[in-house]
Amino acid sequence: VPGDKSISHRALLFGAISEGTTTIDGLLPAEDPLSTAACLRAMGASISPIRAGEIVQVEGVGLDGLQEPDDVLDCGNSGTTMRLMLGLLAGRKGRHFVLTGDSSLRRRPMHRVSQPLAVMGATIQGRDAGNFAPLAVQGQPLRGAVIGTPVASAQVKSALLLAALTAEGSTSVIEPAQSRDHSERMLRAFGADLEVGGELGRHILLRPGRSLRGQTVVVPGDISSAAFWLVAGALVPGADLTVENVGLNPTRTGILEVLEQMEAQIEVLNRRDVAGEPVGDLRVTHGPLKPFRFGEEIMPRLVDEVPILSVAACFCDGESRISGASELRVKETDRLAVMARQLTAMGAEIEEHADGLSIRGGRQLHGARLDSETDHRIAMSLAVAAMLAKGNSSLARSEAAAVSYPEFWSELERLRC
Ligand code: S3P
Repeated sequence: VPGDKSISHRALLFGAISEGTTTIDGLLPAEDPLSTAACLRAMGASISPIRAGEIVQVEGVGLDGLQEPDDVLDCGNSGTTMRLMLGLLAGRKGRHFVLTGDSSLRRRPMHRVSQPLAVMGATIQGRDAGNFAPLAVQGQPLRGAVIGTPVASAQVKSALLLAALTAEGSTSVIEPAQSRDHSERMLRAFGADLEVGGELGRHILLRPGRSLRGQTVVVPGDISSAAFWLVAGALVPGADLTVENVGLNPTRTGILEVLEQMEAQIEVLNRRDVAGEPVGDLRVTHGPLKPFRFGEEIMPRLVDEVPILSVAACFCDGESRISGASELRVKETDRLAVMARQLTAMGAEIEEHADGLSIRGGRQLHGARLDSETDHRIAMSLAVAAMLAKGNSSLARSEAAAVSYPEFWSELERLRC
């Protein structure tokens, strides 16, 4: 599977504000990281072409070296790009930035970032009092602060840590539950003065003042992309599939916990550490699956895997229940509504709740006219459902997969042979 999307964004961003060169091996060559790279280039960072299988080099401009761009910064479909950029740019004194994105991104809530950044002194304006892009950032001197984030979101946490790098005084970020910690790991590796403490790693303290130094980053395969093959491998009769070099950071492995609960046959082979992130190979073999139940507690560890898990639920006898998942409603699409709508069109028995789904599995799904509704993870989840359904399906807007996994359709074709 291609490189981890979260780690790819961070390697580009941290490399751009470091001293010297950052070398990235395994960067995800997909639309979302390309949006981050384009924004950074527009502000003066030099980034070599991003092509599959090629090492990417970033020439950093230093902590305060990003220039005012002469046009709007386009974040495309990428929430991570926009939210992390807000934190990166808020403290660039005297410089002005405008951030926008596609129609999905312009509907996604940005208050969760702009409001805590305002506590540090940021000036961010936009529709609905700074909630929706296009957003204008007028760079200001920032002050460090103690900030409790309203949601367990790595995008919010990372935006605050980026702002904290050039603020006056230290910043503490306290999360309601631990979200993915790639920023903490990578910022420390780049030389930031960052401590993680408190119950279950929920308090992060960053003291400004240290410059970052360019590093070599090795990006593991994305467990969120592997998830489609893990579910497909568990469901397709006779399948025996190994997905190599998958990132197994414990803040991301909720999917494995749920697949274990379903009694899927999954083995982790060759566990190792690569450049500060745990990695392994995942072997899955076909076998019967049990229904699952999961809620708020596990959500940060599998937030992007709910669509494919709702497909898995359709193919096991009994009722599965997803709760505590209201965050899914503000992703690239309202993923609870879209999965309920699309799987219902295939004959699935799904009930949508405010914060989740109930799915009665075991009914044979039939082919249907499907639509990704522009969401990459929905496109790939529906592909797995369609492969297992009786009869043919068509999928409108299938090209959405390229946001995180440009080779998905050719890989699917290869695996079906
Ligand atoms: C991401 C964090 C998550 C995740 C997204 C990537 C990141 O979003 O859904 O795909 O790279 O920080 P939230 O921070 O909104 O939970």
